Amino acid sequence: MLIKHKHSWQETENSVTGESLYLNRRTLMVGAAAAGAAIAAPNVFAQRERELAELAARPTEYKSNESLTPENAVTQYNNFYEFGVSKGDPYQNAWRLQPKPWSIQVDGLVDKPGEYALEDLIDFNALEDRIYRLRCVEAWSMVVPWIGVSLASVLKKIEPQSGAKYVRFETLADPKQMPGLRWPVLDWPYVEGLRIDEAMNDLALLAVGLYGKELPNQNGAPVRLVVPWKYGFKSIKSIVRISLTETEPKTSWNLSAPREYGFYSNVNPEVDHPRWSQKRERRIGEFGRRETQKFNGYGEMVADLYAGMDLRAKF
Ligand code: MTE
Repeated sequence: MLIKHKHSWQETENSVTGESLYLNRRTLMVGAAAAGAAIAAPNVFAQRERELAELAARPTEYKSNESLTPENAVTQYNNFYEFGVSKGDPYQNAWRLQPKPWSIQVDGLVDKPGEYALEDLIDFNALEDRIYRLRCVEAWSMVVPWIGVSLASVLKKIEPQSGAKYVRFETLADPKQMPGLRWPVLDWPYVEGLRIDEAMNDLALLAVGLYGKELPNQNGAPVRLVVPWKYGFKSIKSIVRISLTETEPKTSWNLSAPREYGFYSNVNPEVDHPRWSQKRERRIGEFGRRETQKFNGYGEMVADLYAGMDLRAKF
């Protein structure tokens, strides 16, 4: 779906960030990408890193008019339980993850199933910049400049059949790369799901980069979901399998604590978590708290998906 009219989050990055800061960051990003490329990456990836760095300059849709969260908070304050349950663990431990090469198994109710190389599923020549708020169920939030393609573009490629009603995602579960798998804090592999109309909504993004660079391992390299109107845990990282199903798939957090985490998990200040309020949130890098917005502020684009549903029962 092409968005013709502008929304509040569709500012260009230049109008969000002061120009000198913007240019400085661009220079830094290009420098960092080049340094990374010099160490290990084969040429094809070095080329991709350069392309990613250049993307940050492109004026596109889906920009936020809010300040970006500092990059080091986005990459060092993480939830990725496969690398440990503390916020600093993924940054410390995710160097073990080997995101290249990467393939994704596609199965279930699709006409084009198979084992796809990442580059065959994601069109790296059509990457978009999107600045999205990420609202964690733990009542903190960030504003992140993501790079990726719409999930819909990938689903169209694999051709869902008419009986497909849900999309199920699975994260890699390799104990050699992921030390956190030793602990049964969740039922591994990490799994998530969306209803197919949610998945086809243009906001749903498969991200391969942030801040103009390839996705750092701790943020879910090489590809993760970003569903900005839902709590952050729906945004599954390091995806190795995408399945189209007729029935609602199980999801990791719902399996682990069904009273606390439902399948939908839309950001909703009217529905408290059983152990804390969801009315307010702490924006990482800011003092004080701000009001949480229903659907994380993206209601204009997604509220229709839930027309007639009781979002207290289907939380
Ligand atoms: N994906 C996997 N595979 N494992 C996880 O533990 N944590 C989720 C989500 N995706 C998680 C995951 C949670 S709780 C949040 S809030 C976001 O990732 C955090 O994304 P970030 O670390 O990039 O901010």
